[in-house]
Amino acid sequence: MPSILVLNGPNLNLLGTREPAIYGADTLADVERRCRALGESLGSSIDCLQSNHEGALVDAIHDARGRHAGIVLNAGAYTHTSIALRDAISGVALPCVEVHVSNVHAREAFRHHSVIAPVCRGVIAGFGVAGYELAIRALAEDP
Ligand code: DQA
Repeated sequence: MPSILVLNGPNLNLLGTREPAIYGADTLADVERRCRALGESLGSSIDCLQSNHEGALVDAIHDARGRHAGIVLNAGAYTHTSIALRDAISGVALPCVEVHVSNVHAREAFRHHSVIAPVCRGVIAGFGVAGYELAIRALAEDP
C-alpha cells in the first residue's frame, strides 16, 4: 500500500483558532482525519506529522525515504525562507506537493516567493484545507 506523509510546519498546530478568516475553522486534527479517510478510500496509508521546528521537519523528510511514496508539505512560513527544507526535499528525491491553506499570492509580498516550490512536483494554494486532499489525490494518482 503506497504511503503518503502529510507534513505540517510551524503554527499549523493552531489551525482552527489561528486567524480563522484566513485559515478557516477546521483544526489540524480535522485535517488529519480527512486525509486519513481519503487515503483509506484511495488505498493509500497516510502518516501525519506536525512540528514547529525546522530541524525536526528536515528529519521527518529524511525519515520518509524508504517509508513513504510521497510527501504533502505545508511548510508554513519556512516555505519562504528554508533552504534546509528545500535541500532535504531534493536530497530524498521523493515527490512532494507544496500546500497552502490560504492563497499566498493574494497576501503580503513576502509570501509570494517559495524557496521549496522549485523542488516540488506542484503547488496547491488557496483552496482552504481541501488543498491537502487535492495533494493526496495528485500523489496517489501519479506516485
Ligand atoms: C501558509 C501560508 C504561509 O505564508 C504562512 O506562513 C503559514 C500558512 C498557508 O497554509 O496558507 O503559516 O503556509
